Amino acid sequence: MPTVKLSDLNICFEQHGSGTPLLFIHGYPLHRQLWKSQWTALADAAQVIVPDLRGHGESEPGVAPHTMQNLAQDCFDLLEKLGISAPLFVCGLSMGGYIAMAMLRTHPERIAGLILTATRSAADTPEVKANRDKSILLAQTQGAKPIIDNMLPRLISPKSLASRPEIVQTAQAIMSSISVNTIIKDLLGLKERPDSTSLLAASTQPTLIIHGVDDQIVPLAEAQALQQIIPDAQLTMLPDAGHLLNLEQPGLFNAAIRQFIQRISNE
Ligand code: MLT
Repeated sequence: MPTVKLSDLNICFEQHGSGTPLLFIHGYPLHRQLWKSQWTALADAAQVIVPDLRGHGESEPGVAPHTMQNLAQDCFDLLEKLGISAPLFVCGLSMGGYIAMAMLRTHPERIAGLILTATRSAADTPEVKANRDKSILLAQTQGAKPIIDNMLPRLISPKSLASRPEIVQTAQAIMSSISVNTIIKDLLGLKERPDSTSLLAASTQPTLIIHGVDDQIVPLAEAQALQQIIPDAQLTMLPDAGHLLNLEQPGLFNAAIRQFIQRISNE
């Protein structure tokens, strides 16, 4: 698997296809395999780049905290190492969406199109921050397993949970590989992230929101509110899909991205 050396770590990534760059950023506590149903399926439409964020999958942990801004900078550093300076499409799922927003915050001129999936613009409420602290304590005292056991059934739609064991197994295998240190660093970064609502409201970048109707982590109403906030944003809702909608509905998910890229590229 290709790796490149960034300032404090080696980062591992997938690269498939050619042409317009399309960066996929995974969520918490996941890694690049989340996007396996995208990276070859969309390789005829774009140059697909899929990193393991620092400390996730096969990327080294490095020393920097997992703020959304640091994780966004890692993505820019990877692109620079790959010689990609042209504006690109960025697709982020949940925490990956927060990282995409952090990329927009510092370098809007680099974003040709934003694809926000299973994510939200708001910062954590005091209640969510308190829950993050509880999760950090749980991880420190009991390890990653209780965090994953609690999260897994909420990541997938009730229908997939009941009838598609392969989806459950994929999500479980990915999450089980994430170290407790990475989980804690992610939780600290998530808790600190800024509110991006005004950033997105002022954005002129074309934006596609893709959301699972059955998302239990970020309810659909939040995606509908996001669409109202972002000028000219398009919202595609996927049936029988939860937080990991790209695993549950890869055909519909990929079709939405393909159409968006074609539309923006033809404008
Ligand atoms: C994620 O899926 O990346 C996280 O659930 C995001 C969050 O907890 O805010």
